[in-house]
Amino acid sequence: MAHFDPRTYRDALGQFATGVTIVTTRDSDGKAVGVTANSFNSVSLDPPLVLWSLARSARSMAAFEQSGQFAVHILASDQDALSNRFASRIEDKFAGLDIGEDGPPRIEGCSARLVCSTRHLYEGGDHVIMVGEVVDYESDGKPPLLFHGGTYADRIAREAQSASPPVLYAVDGRIATITLNRPETRNALAEEVIAALVATLEAADADPDIDCVVLTGEGPGFCSGGNIKQIKALTAEQHMSPMELETWYKTQIQRIPLAMERLSVPVIAAIRGHAIGAGCDLACMADIRIAADDAVFAESFLRVGIIPGDGGAWLLPRIVGVAKATQMMLTGEFIDAAKAERYGLVSEVVPGEALLPRAMELARMVAQFPPSAIRKTKRLIKDARDVTLAEHLDQAAIWQGVLQQMDDHREAIDAILEKRPPRFQGK
Ligand SMILES: Cc1cc2nc3c(=O)[nH]c(=O)nc-3n(C[C@H](O)[C@H](O)[C@H](O)COP(=O)(O)O)c2cc1C
Repeated sequence: MAHFDPRTYRDALGQFATGVTIVTTRDSDGKAVGVTANSFNSVSLDPPLVLWSLARSARSMAAFEQSGQFAVHILASDQDALSNRFASRIEDKFAGLDIGEDGPPRIEGCSARLVCSTRHLYEGGDHVIMVGEVVDYESDGKPPLLFHGGTYADRIAREAQSASPPVLYAVDGRIATITLNRPETRNALAEEVIAALVATLEAADADPDIDCVVLTGEGPGFCSGGNIKQIKALTAEQHMSPMELETWYKTQIQRIPLAMERLSVPVIAAIRGHAIGAGCDLACMADIRIAADDAVFAESFLRVGIIPGDGGAWLLPRIVGVAKATQMMLTGEFIDAAKAERYGLVSEVVPGEALLPRAMELARMVAQFPPSAIRKTKRLIKDARDVTLAEHLDQAAIWQGVLQQMDDHREAIDAILEKRPPRFQGK
């Protein structure tokens, strides 16, 4: 009797990467039989012996025990569907395959194929260990299908390669555009999006060659807020306790307002379609907001029985005033672009096709100025929320002292006096 948890033992074995094979033979009626197996291994080169093991419960056991020969097909990396087919208990695994008439059925397109005559059958617990002598071998040199941790390793790598990044980052001159790139969920703030958004915001902020960020969403909507399915799973599947949920908020979605709050580089949000829930809050975290005429805003948290968990109740009243913010949060009402402009939630509404060009135009207007002064202006506005006028003036005087000692300040004045464009050095 094993004195360990068989599941953890299985997990440990799963750490070994193996190749995947399909082993074929024929039963006493000559009918093709085949099974997916990753227990294949080499035993000896001289004579060339290989082994694999077959579960006693396998339907194909009788055929392999009596046939006297089998063929091992080392699968190629694109044959995962075939592997799945031969790992299922279906009737005609060979449907549609051209397997030849004689000898063990042949499967095309593999990395390598070994034909073996059965030399030994060993007792192997709930498996039978089959040792075969290799009598024929051919190789195509294709990369093999690898199995690791209970899944096809190559598929994970392929999917990771082909998957589009959750957030796009593009630089044009001194302007970075950050685009939420999950249009299929209207750019819901799933964990992968949160991580990528925070990383790109911080990258833009750390880059002295970036003067302004345009934040927008791919597809018809800006951001539909928290990923409802992921949020439901926190309690329905992961059974998180209140303390665990608190930690989740702090380590996930709340990273966005904290990252936004720390930035020195100004952010212009260009909003089309839905900016709902945490998506509305995300827009509120930007320094300037412009909207396409199809934009829709809502503080929709109450609709799903929760509160703004990412700073909305702090941000929105500071933008539109307490009364309008409270109305939006308590009613969940959808606010169209025109109303959002009246509320002061956005500073401009433009036709949809003009949204990004206008955002870039504004960003270029920002980026025409000396880099240090741009960032200090943004910080001065942000920091002003939390200090007295006297403290604010103190901060402004100190920073002004620094800026007025900079070459860029003198260059700005010279350029005006000499009626020429300025050349700023960031010094
Ligand atoms: C990647 C992979 C590797 C497998 N390796 C083995 C193996 O080495 N031995 C085995 O008995 N079953 C293995 N299986 C499970 C069999 O393929 C599966 O039980 C199959 O349904 C048996 O077919 P049969 O019942 O028609 O004989 C593997 C399955 C997969 C997906």
